[in-house]
Amino acid sequence: MVVVASSMIFLAAQAKTTRDGVYAEAQATRGQAIYDKVCASCHAPSLEGDGQAPALVGKDFDLEWKDQPLSDLFERIRSTMPADAPGTLKPEEVADVMAYLFNRANFPAGVSALPTDIAALKALTYIPAAR
Ligand code: HEC
Repeated sequence: MVVVASSMIFLAAQAKTTRDGVYAEAQATRGQAIYDKVCASCHAPSLEGDGQAPALVGKDFDLEWKDQPLSDLFERIRSTMPADAPGTLKPEEVADVMAYLFNRANFPAGVSALPTDIAALKALTYIPAAR
């Protein structure tokens, strides 16, 4: 029974993209607090970047991540950001920050939180929000 249930969850997650509600609202709220404290100094409170640090929403960001699995964005943030202290965020904090980025990019929230499991994140694809 357990095996059947988990493979069904995997199948359901497989075709999902950032347009399908892949994060929870409460997670984005937690992510905002982390972003403002840890990321905004370089990427700006607006997420639009500042000098050397690129924007984390908008056209260039969309082009960079379009069609990529969310596991790649997760690993990118987890292992290289914040640039002045890489590797210091817990996996849950990385997922929370991603939820905040998605919220600000106008992706819809869903019922369940963005996972921290790499296999589950691999099944989710970044597709830019309709503008
Ligand atoms: C000390 C400044 C600094 C801080 C703090 C910082 N970043 Fe960055 N970030 C950069 C710079 C500079 C780049 C581009 C060069 C690079 O990739 O290292 C970058 C690149 C990125 C990218 C890749 C953007 C793209 O277009 O692919 C992401 C995603 C990112 N940062 C997310 C974050 C998040 C999330 C945080 C907070 C947890 C954060 N950064 C904190 C400076 C910073």
